[in-house]
Amino acid sequence: MRFSKLLKPAAAATAFAAILLAALLNTSPRVKATDDDDDNSNDSRIQRGLDIAPVHLNLEGKNRALVGLGSYIVNATVPCNECHGAGPAINQFLPGDNPYFGQTAVINPAAYLGGGRDFGAPVPGSAHIISRNLTPDKTGLPEGGRTFGEFVQIMRTGVDLDHLHPTCAIGPSGPIVNTGCIPAPFNGDLLQTMPWPGLRNLTNHDLRAIYEYLSAVPCVAGPPTPSPLHNDCQ
Ligand code: HEC
Repeated sequence: MRFSKLLKPAAAATAFAAILLAALLNTSPRVKATDDDDDNSNDSRIQRGLDIAPVHLNLEGKNRALVGLGSYIVNATVPCNECHGAGPAINQFLPGDNPYFGQTAVINPAAYLGGGRDFGAPVPGSAHIISRNLTPDKTGLPEGGRTFGEFVQIMRTGVDLDHLHPTCAIGPSGPIVNTGCIPAPFNGDLLQTMPWPGLRNLTNHDLRAIYEYLSAVPCVAGPPTPSPLHNDCQ
């Protein structure tokens, strides 16, 4: 009786020591695993990116690793499709598969990165800010045929190479606000709403990966010409 009473705390202490030891032993491999993850972070991201791509990818002639990393960035970190999905937000997911309704999320491939989300006018009466079609056209280049050089320029400087909403001209009674321009202090030469002030800090490698991924997604034709959202798919 007495002996076992003494034994209990001893057993408890041993158990505690064992847990402590296990925890200590566990710590070092875990720290190591984290380091390894950091070293090879791109490998796991590439695989995850390929796994989560919501549309069929055309990998022909593409660098698979870049496409995978690009998919990881575009789908898991910066939600490009949240703004660049075609049409209103409700179109982003298939009917019955809207995560915001508490349903499983299934992206609508017909709207994926097709552009056309309307963010309204920065000033009442001025041009509306509408996201652009990022999918490749028949040339196979993303964003309706943009070169990588142009893509990098856009992402690093926010310049609107399409000049869709110039700064309103200044008239005698102040800025002339019409439906096609945006007044100062907004700079009409720059993309608005598009989060380039943060995205411009991405590495060249990450931008290359995004570009490679955007060239692998299916073409979305969008509305007919002369809409700037139109893409010639064939
Ligand atoms: C918060 C919403 C939002 C997010 C997130 C977003 N964009 Fe945009 N993006 C826009 C809008 C809006 C425009 C058009 C802006 C304008 O007309 O002033 C745009 C424009 C662009 C353009 C210029 C297209 C052209 O034809 O010149 C590119 C390229 C672009 N986005 C790429 C991306 C990529 C790549 C991502 C994800 C990594 C992304 N965007 C995420 C809203 C967004």
